[in-house]
Amino acid sequence: MSNYHIKHLEEYYQVYRKSIREPENFWEEIAEEHFLWRKKWTNVLSWDFSKPEVKWFEGAKLNITENCIDRHLATRGDKTAIIFEPNNPTDKAEYISYKQLYERVNQFANVLKSKGVTKGDRVCIYVPMIPELAIATLACARIGAIHSVVFAGFSSKALSTRINDCDCKMVITADGSYRGNKTIDLKGVVDEALESCPGVKNVLVAKRINSKISMKVGRDFWLQPLLDSASKEGNAEVMDAEDPLFILYTSGSTGKPKGMVHSSAGYMVYTAYTFKNVFQYKENDVYWCTADIGWITGHSYIIYGPLANGATTVLFEGVPSYPNFGRFWEIVDKHKINQFYTAPTAIRALAKQGTELVEKYNLSSLKVLGSVGEPINEEAWHWYNENVGKKKSPIVDTWWQTETGGIMITPIPYVTPTKPTYATLPFIGIQPALMNENGDELKGNQVEGRLCIKFPWPSMARTIWGSHQRYKETYFSAFDNMYFTGDGALRDEVGYYRITGRVDDVIIVSGHNLGTAPIEDAINEHPAVAESAIVGFPHDIKGSALYGYITLKDAGESRNHKNLSKEINQLIADRIGPIAKLDKIQFTEGLPKTRSGKIMRRILRKIAHNEMDNLGDISTLLNPDVVQSIIDNKL
Ligand code: WT7
Repeated sequence: MSNYHIKHLEEYYQVYRKSIREPENFWEEIAEEHFLWRKKWTNVLSWDFSKPEVKWFEGAKLNITENCIDRHLATRGDKTAIIFEPNNPTDKAEYISYKQLYERVNQFANVLKSKGVTKGDRVCIYVPMIPELAIATLACARIGAIHSVVFAGFSSKALSTRINDCDCKMVITADGSYRGNKTIDLKGVVDEALESCPGVKNVLVAKRINSKISMKVGRDFWLQPLLDSASKEGNAEVMDAEDPLFILYTSGSTGKPKGMVHSSAGYMVYTAYTFKNVFQYKENDVYWCTADIGWITGHSYIIYGPLANGATTVLFEGVPSYPNFGRFWEIVDKHKINQFYTAPTAIRALAKQGTELVEKYNLSSLKVLGSVGEPINEEAWHWYNENVGKKKSPIVDTWWQTETGGIMITPIPYVTPTKPTYATLPFIGIQPALMNENGDELKGNQVEGRLCIKFPWPSMARTIWGSHQRYKETYFSAFDNMYFTGDGALRDEVGYYRITGRVDDVIIVSGHNLGTAPIEDAINEHPAVAESAIVGFPHDIKGSALYGYITLKDAGESRNHKNLSKEINQLIADRIGPIAKLDKIQFTEGLPKTRSGKIMRRILRKIAHNEMDNLGDISTLLNPDVVQSIIDNKL
């Protein structure tokens, strides 16, 4: 018997030890007993972090959708797989059973095939949080096409960059989307993006808001009529264990977004196993993750992890503030949610509204509360624990990344005693290490350093699409023979981990990962701007917000700074998306630089954090005077 479901702390330690001492035996047992394979592997693991190359379950054949759908049909055919909760609370929720999901995924897969999509092709999915998003994703996986889901809040420029980076031949989208009381013209964004995407042959359009849109003859097709005439049956493509399942873009501190490539078998095994344990999912539980499927959280813990366990997973189209800030709690009450997984930024925004709206609803179904995306501050942790969980539902503060595919450091609820602001212990099979700047591992407890992972785990990204060299440089070059996460962390006296935040130029705003370089590039496109530097500063709700220091070409620029700020933020919204807009813009005479001309972001960060008395030695700067003037004019 493998240890698929861990139920107490002693068992956790015992299984953890086994997973470290005999990783291959351990993962082989999990894979063998809990998944459907067309053919078993010849080798469980081969790896070399210096290349880097990692292969799990080599030689095995499978299709992830047979594991997420087909194998449940006999026992769970009528069970609800997906509950769709629409933006408007007075619209009816939709309940999609496993049987219906099977039919709808097959229909969609058959439409993709009829449009010439075959195994290995890349398909861009730019769809709001409606059932078609999950179904399109699964349909790609069913025929072996590699999906690249792009969050439907990204701008046309961001979309076209992602479409071109991996040569998508098809885009799946919708006429528009709802966001609270607003609608967004998604098809318009796609049309604009496609002006610079010559490789896209077809666009499939789901109807959501019934707006008038333009359809390009021969290229664009309404989805529904095609689905209606497609067969509900279809065989899944047989995939190799290491065939790419999807590409998902994440921001880097420099350069264009990185298309992280995830594999089929390892990703499936690890997301399913973590889902089962981190949420202690039991048959008939209703699980809800509020993330968008456009992020890794949605891929792993709305779609693949839950469905691989035959779970009921909620897909919510709306926002926490519409029609009012009680919406999340209304949904918990309505669908009797047992596991609720959200981001600290949402918790902070809801906490700000007081407790009246939480108390209005019956939240007694809740058994597990999750947090993900950024460090959860102590205040938010307590508010969540007391007002939502009523001190009865453990909070799982789950640390992981787009690159890791699945949850890496986390409590197991009812197993690991929790501690506010601590992600606590490594999950089964995960070997973290804390490193100092000289490249030495910090052994023992009560140490703080850079967080690395020493040993491969099944769901790690295998490469960056189109640039294995960049993958190696970004993740495997900082420390020998280790995966470097980009985060700092400390280990306390009992071995619990606390993530202290990014140690690179990535800033997490409302749980979204933003690189400073692309934002600075967008700002620098403004004709009046000479140069700019972006840093994060603490923000009540967003966790971090963006502070921009901008130097103009003409110091005596006659134009009003307020207008300039608006233009700059518009430029950022066009190039990246509204999430990357700056909260504060300070026009400066210059930016502090080293003698070799490198902008000293560290100093700017300290100023934005109001840590002026702790700037360190600035006398060696090229232009020390500029620092005082920046402090004097601080916003
Ligand atoms: C970065 C990864 C993992 C899905 C959502 C974000 C930060 C994530 C936590 C946490 C502290 C966290 C890290 C990480 N992060 N979860 N529980 N505590 N920090 O995925 O966009 O790839 O971002 O988010 O800095 O490196 P992502």
